[in-house]
Amino acid sequence: MPSTKFFGHVQCGQETHLYTLENAAGFRAEITNYGAAIVRLLTLDRTGALADVVLGYDHVEGYVTHSSYFGAVIGRYGNRIADGRFSLNGKSYSLAKNNSPGGMACHLHGGLVGFDKVVWTAEPLTTKSGDALRLRYSSRTGEEGFPGNLDVTVTYTVTSDNALKIEYLATTDQPTPVNLTNHSYFNLAGEGQGDVLDHVITLHATHYTPVDAGLIPLGQLATVADTPLDFRTPQRIGARIGSEHEQLKLAGGYDHNFVLDHPRDGNAALAATVYESKSGRVMDVFTSEPGVQFYTGNFLNGKSVGKNGHAYRYRGGLCLETQHYPDSPNQPAFPTTILKPGETLRSTTLYRFEVR
Ligand code: GLA
Repeated sequence: MPSTKFFGHVQCGQETHLYTLENAAGFRAEITNYGAAIVRLLTLDRTGALADVVLGYDHVEGYVTHSSYFGAVIGRYGNRIADGRFSLNGKSYSLAKNNSPGGMACHLHGGLVGFDKVVWTAEPLTTKSGDALRLRYSSRTGEEGFPGNLDVTVTYTVTSDNALKIEYLATTDQPTPVNLTNHSYFNLAGEGQGDVLDHVITLHATHYTPVDAGLIPLGQLATVADTPLDFRTPQRIGARIGSEHEQLKLAGGYDHNFVLDHPRDGNAALAATVYESKSGRVMDVFTSEPGVQFYTGNFLNGKSVGKNGHAYRYRGGLCLETQHYPDSPNQPAFPTTILKPGETLRSTTLYRFEVR
């Protein structure tokens, strides 16, 4: 059974807690009901030593104050919506424009008070797969400008084979765009241990969605072949991150949605593998989602001081945000993100750890 401890009070006096989920091998996740965020993830290296491989804060205040989305569940719509607008069934909706890459304003990660900035209801569970935590949040109609009352359940499970499984469920009473993800920043050498440029990554993606200066998809899919975005074979992240490729210049590094090659059959399939040679840690990412945002922490700048007093430097963590494509509500050719009444959104992502 997960253990629970107090994690601090937030606005309106609401209490937050930290829940510890672990397996017999010592793999451990600590999750808070503030933003449904993963606060710590302890995994073994090849010598059997544990390290915390995600960026975050020691106290809930860090999560309240900062806006890097460390470890949080993102919603109602993860990633960007162009100009903070979309139309649905003949009605136009206007959202907060809380981000402006290249001076072009857009809606990012659910708005001013997204799912990362609310207190979720938590229920610790013992399941046959392992320790689990079920988190629920009801987003009311009109919240952050979105239509429909949306009920979201996110269940984290620590499995016996050293995976953190995340299952998302959502239902609505009106059609609404939904794109849920987790925004953990990983550093397999340990949080605060330098940058991730020496990590080696494989992405099972032949295409990506190229973006404009505002990091909004242009609409078509482009092949990764003959570009520095080709990770179909294992590549050091730093090897080509500074190359003269327009997409890398626009995003200031890797910050792109990769279109995953796996079949869209609802099952979680291998999307990415990350390897860090000093520790020997390997992370496999499995997802049922059609895309993944590979982001190399290009907006980190050392000003955010996190756990253990560590200042998180430029490119000090990498994100693999499993998702539908950015700006889907304005892109009719992309897989739909509109959830309708009577339907249930189901999505699964696993981050599984081993050593080499
Ligand atoms: C996502 C985006 C990035 C950045 C981070 C948060 O990964 O794609 O551009 O906004 O979130 O800082």
